[in-house]
Amino acid sequence: MGKIILTADRPSGRLHLGHYIGSLLNRVDLQNQHKQYVMIADVQALTDNFDTPDKIRSSVYELAYDYLAVGIDPKKTTIFIQSQIPEIAELTIYFLNLVNLGRLERNPTVKAEIRQKNFGDVIPVGFLCYPISQSADIATFQAELIPVGEDQIPMIEQANEIVRRFNGIYNTDCLKESKPLLSKTPRLVGIDGQAKASKSLGNAIFLSDEPNVIKEKVFSMFTDPDHIRASDPGKVEGNVVFTYLDAFHPDKGEVEDLKAKYRRGGLGDTVVKGILNDVLQNLLTPIHEKRFSLKRDHIFDVLRTGINEAKLAAARTMVQVRTAMGVNYSDKE
Ligand code: TRP
Repeated sequence: MGKIILTADRPSGRLHLGHYIGSLLNRVDLQNQHKQYVMIADVQALTDNFDTPDKIRSSVYELAYDYLAVGIDPKKTTIFIQSQIPEIAELTIYFLNLVNLGRLERNPTVKAEIRQKNFGDVIPVGFLCYPISQSADIATFQAELIPVGEDQIPMIEQANEIVRRFNGIYNTDCLKESKPLLSKTPRLVGIDGQAKASKSLGNAIFLSDEPNVIKEKVFSMFTDPDHIRASDPGKVEGNVVFTYLDAFHPDKGEVEDLKAKYRRGGLGDTVVKGILNDVLQNLLTPIHEKRFSLKRDHIFDVLRTGINEAKLAAARTMVQVRTAMGVNYSDKE
């Protein structure tokens, strides 16, 4: 059945509309054609949040709720928690030998994150090495396709480099190279018009936001600062309300009509915001209802089952890895 797919999120908060169009919808779709693993990457989240473990722990559960609420089906998708699969950590240790420091420091995604997080000269080794751990995630599950945004391409390149080195040095073909499956949707802007919606910037609409919070956020959206009176002609480009209508309104024709009217003048911000609010409430109400109908015990069950399935797959890979490296010491030798 299809290919082996691995995707993951760092549990450092709840998921928002950017995740919804960027990856969640895609996962709901992919689970019907492929063997899909969705990993809650708590170990990776700890690399830059090691001093706030409670936040990571509670976010692990938030993520699980979000996944089920949007329709990721645990009967089709294996949902699991990274830290609960020690095989990944084991493979990471072996992979550390196959990468040099200069290569890690050249990773553009890591470079950008280091700048953004103001680590200065005190970069935790665990953080610098997370691409190696991520390579181990991918290799452990023999994943063939990795649905990601562009920023993750260097991670997959790193993973493939390691796989080739591993197979070459240990004279095996037990590890497989993987390919990115690029998301077609561009990154969703934040409600403040900043480049991207993110938890840390506080400019995102979360899937679990209450209806009144959603409304408040919609009505505080950045529009066209020169569009003062409803009768003024307005700009649609860079206007967050229209970006969100493009992304979420089910009727594209109606969005085009609204744009034309707004450009001409005669359509007030409050009216368009009201329309967007309706669209988002319609989209998020069923997700909300599903989320709050989920029992905690069910979430635990889903995670336990997912972890068990993931362990089986990981164990299969590690038998091959240990055999290739000769780190299997049994009395039969
Ligand atoms: N780095 C990814 C992110 O920040 C999360 C991740 C961890 C991941 N391990 C992975 C993604 C393995 C794909 C495959 O979104």
